Amino acid sequence: MNQTIETILNHRSIRKFKAEAITDEQVNTIIKAAQQASTSSNVMAYTIIGISDNALKEELYKVSGHSHVKNNAHLLIFCGDLHRINQLANADESVSIEDNLESTEQFIVATIDASLAAQNATIAAESMGLGICYIGSLRNDINRVNELLELPNHVIPLFGLVVGYPDHQPDIKPRLPLEAVYHQNKYLPFYEQQKHIEAYDHEMKQYYQTRSSNTKIDTWSDQMVRKFSQPTRMDVSPFVKQKGLNLK
Ligand SMILES: Cc1cc2nc3c(=O)[nH]c(=O)nc-3n(C[C@H](O)[C@H](O)[C@H](O)COP(=O)(O)O)c2cc1C
Repeated sequence: MNQTIETILNHRSIRKFKAEAITDEQVNTIIKAAQQASTSSNVMAYTIIGISDNALKEELYKVSGHSHVKNNAHLLIFCGDLHRINQLANADESVSIEDNLESTEQFIVATIDASLAAQNATIAAESMGLGICYIGSLRNDINRVNELLELPNHVIPLFGLVVGYPDHQPDIKPRLPLEAVYHQNKYLPFYEQQKHIEAYDHEMKQYYQTRSSNTKIDTWSDQMVRKFSQPTRMDVSPFVKQKGLNLK
């Protein structure tokens, strides 16, 4: 196994960081790695906002409710961004880009581009001995994050990424068996996935009972059904539309 694969397979989210800072050089390397990710037609439909202002971090922490949003070496916010393209097109009166700008297709492009960049940033950070945690809970109040970061139209905050030196070593969380997520030539009917899901539920039950902190009795299936039964962040859809994205 090479070092890159080892780094990837060693991933676990880090939610407690040492006070130790990271250098500007480290941050720049992480961002350069993010930028080198593949990007749909080279559109680069994302912007990454680094949060160095502690008062702003505190406000973002209030939105997320997670202490690791304020206690970290650096916080990055990944935004889907079609503003740049719109500005370019606005300068040319002979073209109209509205149909594309407002399409679900370009909304998907922006979220994919931002996610690929973030995962490259993750691997770069982890390869330097740093830990990370994605922060979707910034969407607990997406309008507030939008306001705090002064995002223009066609820019939406998708998630944060906290980075720093790990101050704990959580157990690696098992994933679904490969057969459940990797299907051959066509979609595997659910009844054939079921045995893999049952095996995973068994494994996760053990994992939750024996992990080094926050033990509980639960299975993945129960957790997912509970999660999806609870309407969550229903204000995100109107927010995205109000920003001029995913309208058609
Ligand atoms: C897009 C995204 C958003 C996430 N949001 C949060 C979050 O708000 N807070 C948090 O503590 N973890 C968050 N996570 C981390 C996941 O809970 C974690 O990746 C998952 O449980 C698997 O655990 P692992 O990363 O330790 O393997 C997020 C992960 C992703 C990919």
